Amino acid sequence: MKIAVLPGDGIGTEIVAEAVRVLDALDLKFEMETALVGGAAYEAHGHPLPEATLKLAKEADAVLFGAVGDWKYDKLDRPLRPEQAILGLRKNLGLFANFRPAICYEQLTHASSLKPELVAGLDILIIRELTGDIYFGQPRGKRVATDGHFPGADEAFDTMRYSRPEIERIARVAFEAARKRNKRVTSVDKANVLETFQFWKDVVTEVHKDYPDVALEHMYVDNAAMQLVKKPKAFDVIVTGNMFGDILSDEASMLTGSIGMLPSASLNDSNQGLYEPSHGSAPDIAGKGVANPLATILSAAMMLRFSLNQEEAAQRIETAVKAVLAQGLRTPDIWSEGTTKVGTREMGDAVLKALA
Ligand code: NAI
Ligand code: MG
Repeated sequence: MKIAVLPGDGIGTEIVAEAVRVLDALDLKFEMETALVGGAAYEAHGHPLPEATLKLAKEADAVLFGAVGDWKYDKLDRPLRPEQAILGLRKNLGLFANFRPAICYEQLTHASSLKPELVAGLDILIIRELTGDIYFGQPRGKRVATDGHFPGADEAFDTMRYSRPEIERIARVAFEAARKRNKRVTSVDKANVLETFQFWKDVVTEVHKDYPDVALEHMYVDNAAMQLVKKPKAFDVIVTGNMFGDILSDEASMLTGSIGMLPSASLNDSNQGLYEPSHGSAPDIAGKGVANPLATILSAAMMLRFSLNQEEAAQRIETAVKAVLAQGLRTPDIWSEGTTKVGTREMGDAVLKALA
């Protein structure tokens, strides 16, 4: 088995280093190979996703990704910006299912922006479709309007679209995931207004016939946004399109305390996957040795579970993370009165110790 390790920029290199140490300590049989991506690759090769990096990622069973992006690249043409690397990897690997668990660890209940009783024990899973929707739909562009409220004015437009196979495969992923959890799926749409999401709702309902043991409810996205902060524990698995999933998963991340705790997985239909923390490259704290490595370490656990068939090792990592939190060790993003502030490396050291 082979893991492509792509640290990227900013805190990416710092947090991936800790996850790699954790993977090494497990003493499992896999090979890890590192390559440049994002701004680091742009500096060295003039492109955020060089051919060699893409080739390595395609050949690997899984990709462990750090983060990319920095303000200093904002002036580059869009195709050369670091963030294009992640879009290119998603597209080339066919990664259509994005798993974003939002788990509130017992010790971090007070770090949430919601009342502790609303988030204590929270464990929900957001599954976001990653390759379709208005983010990729053609046509898109700018033009002079010939109709609408202001004919003759400049306008810009995008196209929201989903095909039946795209909806079917993400619905199956959601029902399968729910089977291994609390057997409830909430499909989030905007069927009352959008043709695309009326179709989404219809197709999800059809696919559901194959999963009678899983409960399905449909919810409008505006209501879902409310329910996520009103009664988040009422959800089990949420499945939705690319744009709604982008927004709702960021909203859900705040329920858990810090984005520095949240792992993610993006899978294709052969269970090859890209695993990365939900956060970005955090240029404001990069190079200071204070970034929280736990989201990346937990992403490595998801990688072992989904792509490398190593459930036991995945659980060992998750148990070690809980142990470290129980010891009161906290990076600054999750620090509170009465706990011990540690840096990135010390947090990694503590996880290694708990593993042993
Ligand atoms: P960000 O997630 O990098 O940072 C947001 C805030 O959270 C910052 O205050 C940061 O210090 C903090 N933070 C993030 N991760 C942390 C960690 N592990 N430990 C402690 N604190 C942490 O999002 P932002 O600032 O919007 O974007 C920064 C850059 O990252 C941009 O260039 C953006 O395009 C890129 N980005 C890349 C992503 C990726 O590589 N998949 C995803 C999101 C953003
Ligand atoms: Mg986002």
